[in-house]
Amino acid sequence: MSAVMYEGKAKQVFQTENENEVLIRYKDDATAFNGEKKGQIIGKGEINNSITSILFTLLEEKGIKTHFIKKINERDQLCRSVEIVMVEVIVRNIIAGSMAKRVGIEEGTVPPNTIFEICYKNDDFGDPLINDHHAVAMGLATYDELNTIYDMTAKINEIMKAFFDDLGITLVDFKLEFGRTKDGEIILADEISPDTCRLWDKKTGEKLDKDRFRRDLGNIEGAYKEILSRLGGK
Ligand code: C5P
Repeated sequence: MSAVMYEGKAKQVFQTENENEVLIRYKDDATAFNGEKKGQIIGKGEINNSITSILFTLLEEKGIKTHFIKKINERDQLCRSVEIVMVEVIVRNIIAGSMAKRVGIEEGTVPPNTIFEICYKNDDFGDPLINDHHAVAMGLATYDELNTIYDMTAKINEIMKAFFDDLGITLVDFKLEFGRTKDGEIILADEISPDTCRLWDKKTGEKLDKDRFRRDLGNIEGAYKEILSRLGGK
């Protein structure tokens, strides 16, 4: 295995012998509030690798192109090499988190429409909220690419909402990242896990996601394990 090509807050990326493929390793490290709060959630790397593998396999089956090739072992997955689009896409089915705070709407409010946001993926500036015109002006993506990203995001939301609903989980909000292949095709990249989604138990409203870490609610690992087990993992 070659040296780490890129290290993020929760993952490491290694180049493989095949230039079109990378190995992504999921770490136990957890950060919140743009890295201000740091910790470890024991077993998180393995759980999130499994959860992301299950969800990306589901999305591929439903016709969404993703970077995911296969899970190799407990912590690692093989993925297609992409250039990450430096925009984070957030979908909100229910108001929570930063939106609840920013505009003063009570967490848990159901809006009449689905909300899509984009943020500039840059830790130095705290991933600020931007709009399409900013993204194009900054050279982060073209309008065509953004349209593709929004189309894919809407489909992914419908697939995931229904899937989680069947498992007794409300998909409150989540974040997606996209990549460009060598041929310039936009595909889904990064991960989908309790680190990147808000997931509430449908019956009890219990939070089964990273808010347990952000808000010091305890039983973080138990919540992540609960999601994996409902998804049919170990
Ligand atoms: O914090 P905020 O309410 O904007 O987050 C919305 C959703 O996006 C949450 O599910 C959160 O976990 C996810 N998110 C993320 N990475 C970020 C920002 C938000 O996974 N950098």
